[in-house]
Amino acid sequence: MTIQTAPASLAPSEEAADQPIEIRKFDAPLGAEVIGLDLSKPLSKADFARIHRAHLDHHVLVFRDQRITPDEQVAFSKRFGPLQIHVLHQFGLAGHPEVLIVSNIVENGKPIGLGDAGHFWHSDLSYKDKPSLGSLLHAQELPAIGGDTLFANQHLAWDALPAHLRNAVEGRVAEHTYLAKYAELQQRSPWRPNLSAEQIAQVRPVTHPIVRTHPETGRRALFVSEHFTTRVIGVPEDESRALLAELFAHSTRPEFIYRHQWRERDMVFWDNRSVMHLAAGTPDDQRRKLYRTTIEGDAPF
Ligand code: SIN
Repeated sequence: MTIQTAPASLAPSEEAADQPIEIRKFDAPLGAEVIGLDLSKPLSKADFARIHRAHLDHHVLVFRDQRITPDEQVAFSKRFGPLQIHVLHQFGLAGHPEVLIVSNIVENGKPIGLGDAGHFWHSDLSYKDKPSLGSLLHAQELPAIGGDTLFANQHLAWDALPAHLRNAVEGRVAEHTYLAKYAELQQRSPWRPNLSAEQIAQVRPVTHPIVRTHPETGRRALFVSEHFTTRVIGVPEDESRALLAELFAHSTRPEFIYRHQWRERDMVFWDNRSVMHLAAGTPDDQRRKLYRTTIEGDAPF
């Protein structure tokens, strides 16, 4: 399901003043910090263009100390496209179905959010016909230790792919399934409710090219993940398993990775067409809560 309209009061304004933005690239294979932008204010056309360009160039943008409401997060996210509602709608923020609560907190015996989101490497919603363009996570409550998020640059992964793997995947498609690891996750955590027939119908398996072309930059990227990719179409089962295992290991090599250590009120905005991500995990005695919005992208080609 997608939601298209922005609240009128938060709609893009041509009158908005430019803000003194500086983009500072990280010393890492991806990522940059955006300095001087207050996301609670309407974004001018020129500032939107700079953020859009930086997002394409760096794949992960970090905005520090953002004191913004869920409405403001939704409004900023919608500048980039319609928002997607997660199939686990029970973890949507009350009054804001487009905001997924990512949290390990359990209140009155009930999880308040999805606590094991990102346990396996993935690109958000790759199991949909139109996977996500990008996602935004806004830190609400952070643990004193742990809770980092890792991002792996899939353009670099493609560029560095050994010839035998390039030949094996060129022109091939793979299946992506939301349910691939669901039973396994359900066994080890309290965050995975049984799915209704309607929820299962929303996440039927899809196929996507193993190597996709970024629709805005034209760069190629590997597009398979440990969490959601189940098989390579058109090759025997054992060959498919071996090929995916090699691709998963290659795509998350340390030289492709930026590790984000969260600070209070960080907003992180990543490009799901260029990177995969992983939640490194939070100790059981620590609380962690973030709000996620997810922007719909195009069908991969
Ligand atoms: C996610 O996969 O969207 C969540 C990542 C995180 O919690 O660090």
